Amino acid sequence: PKKETITSLQQAKGERKITMITAYDALFASLFRESADMILVGDSLNMSFKGEPDTLSITLEQMIYHTQAVCNGAPDTFVVCDMPFGSTNTKEEALANAVKVFQQTRADAVKIEGGCERADLVEHLTDNAIAVIGHVGLLPQSVRSEGGYKVKGRDEESFKQVMADAKAIEESGAFALVIEGVTPALGKAVTEAVKIPVIGIGAGKETDGQVLVWSDMLGFFEAFKPKFVKRYLEGAKLVKEAVGEYAKEVRSGIFPAEEHTYK
Ligand code: KIV
Ligand code: NA
Repeated sequence: PKKETITSLQQAKGERKITMITAYDALFASLFRESADMILVGDSLNMSFKGEPDTLSITLEQMIYHTQAVCNGAPDTFVVCDMPFGSTNTKEEALANAVKVFQQTRADAVKIEGGCERADLVEHLTDNAIAVIGHVGLLPQSVRSEGGYKVKGRDEESFKQVMADAKAIEESGAFALVIEGVTPALGKAVTEAVKIPVIGIGAGKETDGQVLVWSDMLGFFEAFKPKFVKRYLEGAKLVKEAVGEYAKEVRSGIFPAEEHTYK
């Protein structure tokens, strides 16, 4: 498939749904490139790949390393690099770090969590030729300051806040938005309120596209399954069975057989 551009993604709004999936390495990126319009190198890799309890401890250098790997595996796919916690505290720092991502990787855009309070900062990046995807709604990087992961839009205050966040981020020049962990009514309202494509995760079916974390949707991450995840593969089960079979065959002498042995 032809590589998406900011223009083609923006034209998709109202015409076709946008599909996005995370990837953290070249191997899986190369498997996803055929089907996904965009690949997100999400800071969720800090949990799924590194085994940490949340996203907060990943560094910019680690995000760059994984983004390089993903771009190697999917050279013809639109790749987005998450700006990690602590890398965008000031406008100047955010721009310097986004420039690092653009210079050290072939990422097409960066993603920044936050709403109204980050609008000036996002504008500073978009003014300086950094393509930015916003991220509003439930913000995993705020898990400690908010005291947990909280779905937004169930009360009027958070509904209005996320709506204002989405508009402010659109206004700041972001070319698309991720909206996470909101009621379907809020997902729909935001999608209708902004002109840029809105990609949902746990945001109902009315958004312009969907994104899922690959290790959740393929059933490799077993610790828990959030409500919004659909498992398209029982990855963990299949891998455990296969490795169990391998171990059994080694122990019993079935593997290696003649055909696996040099003459
Ligand atoms: O880090 C991530 O994987 C994300 C998605 C959940 C949108 O930000
Ligand atoms: Na993320």
